[in-house]
Amino acid sequence: MALLPILEFPDPRLRTKAVAVDPAQVPDPVFQRLLDDMFETMYEAPGIGLAASQVDVHKRFMVIDISEDKSAPMVFINPEILSREGEQVYQEGCLSVPGIFADVTRADSIDVRFLDRSGQPQRLQVDGLLAVCIQHEMDHLEGKLFVDYLSPLKREMVRKKLAKQRKLAGDAA
Ligand code: NI
Repeated sequence: MALLPILEFPDPRLRTKAVAVDPAQVPDPVFQRLLDDMFETMYEAPGIGLAASQVDVHKRFMVIDISEDKSAPMVFINPEILSREGEQVYQEGCLSVPGIFADVTRADSIDVRFLDRSGQPQRLQVDGLLAVCIQHEMDHLEGKLFVDYLSPLKREMVRKKLAKQRKLAGDAA
């Protein structure tokens, strides 16, 4: 397995709209290895979700594990939200926007349909953190980031803070 580089805001590649995965490609060893690499990259970061878009693969899939001990890996291929209910506010972060956290309002409960990593169709009704995470990762597939929900002024502050962080990291290297 290998760690993959994660694109960071404001990299324009994060704005790419992902295309559907061909279900026939799901069993392909190359695709399966990419899923393993994405899990490894997400766990190492550490994070609870990683969309393919974030590793510069512009196809509609993502990996998620909201457990504390890496015990609940989930793969969502060609996810589709069939219905949403209610509202919740959660303080979100993102591996593509390191060190930044902000409240985002999303649906509380969603009904989601997708293919799992063996290509089998699944349908789940989820709420709470898993619902937040799925909606956040699905935004990535549309080229959307959680900072897009902030005011333009706040988003500009985020961009400057990240540029400063990168400069400091560069100076230290
Ligand atoms: Ni994210």
